[in-house]
Amino acid sequence: MRKPVILITGANGEIGHGLIEYFSTSETHDIVALDLKPLDDSLTGPNLRSMQGDILDDHVMQRIVSEFEIHVIYHLAAMLSTRAEYTPDVAHDVNVNGTLNLLKLATEQARWHGTPVKFLFPSSIAVYGLPDVATKADAGKVRERDWNVPTTMYGCNKLYCEQLGRYYSDHFRQLAADRSPSGVDFRGLRFPGLISAKTMPAGGTSDFAPEMLHAAAQGQPYACFVEQSARIPFMAMPDAIKALVDLAHADVKQLSRRVYNVSSFSLSAGEVREMVLKAFPQAEITFEPDRQRNNIVDSWPADVDDSAATKDWGWKPDYDVRRAFEEYLAPTIGEKYRQG
Ligand code: SER
Repeated sequence: MRKPVILITGANGEIGHGLIEYFSTSETHDIVALDLKPLDDSLTGPNLRSMQGDILDDHVMQRIVSEFEIHVIYHLAAMLSTRAEYTPDVAHDVNVNGTLNLLKLATEQARWHGTPVKFLFPSSIAVYGLPDVATKADAGKVRERDWNVPTTMYGCNKLYCEQLGRYYSDHFRQLAADRSPSGVDFRGLRFPGLISAKTMPAGGTSDFAPEMLHAAAQGQPYACFVEQSARIPFMAMPDAIKALVDLAHADVKQLSRRVYNVSSFSLSAGEVREMVLKAFPQAEITFEPDRQRNNIVDSWPADVDDSAATKDWGWKPDYDVRRAFEEYLAPTIGEKYRQG
């Protein structure tokens, strides 16, 4: 018999770390953690099984199918926005074809065990594209259906994968004579910039905030690659994990859409610096904007309207900006680097 499991792709990434830590204490299901690289030693648990492999490799996908019965997929593997601009073709392959492979796997699994496969997908504020800073300031809290004109390959990929998820869930093979649902229950979250006290992001454009904080905690100087005035929404990692898990547990009948904005607080890069300085008064933080990366941040909304998530499944962040910095980021990060 194959074992019923939750599959997490991109398990070594920032969200993967947070999710696996969370599951190690509060989930009865077994977890299969898939990543290109061997799973970090810090990630352990009695119910955790790690697999090394590429989501683009059919053999890897088949190996998973042959061993496990998958009921929930957290598809976290992706190439983030800055890195994707250097190799857009590869990014498209990983972000789009990788997601398509997982949707196919979910469809096959749902057919096998006869129950829907929940497919949790972290999307991003990168799906939005505001044309200039004046429009961005006027737009305020952007709603899900507005400004869906991303300027980055990553943003295009995420927006299209949201649509693929909706297609698989609601319109799969709509012309087939033997038409039956795919069994995929796709649920996406458009995350703001995420800040973790425990891990560093790699290859994103919202990375200036966590980079500033982690540099300060290590006593290193930091030159920020966007202007002080560049503003986007952010969220502390525990809230991102909570949002994913809460959306996974939500009753499908309560969901009026397949993709939701979620947000906690909105800060300019200058304000991030002020918060970091409160925690680490000796920090040396300067601004040396990179025009292109700054333009990407300028094209993302200053904040998002997450009222649909609140209404449908009770979304509410635990960490406002003060709590995020004073009760989570500063103490936890301080401990991380003291321990070495
Ligand atoms: N944080 C991501 C990035 O910067 C956006 O989702 O690429």
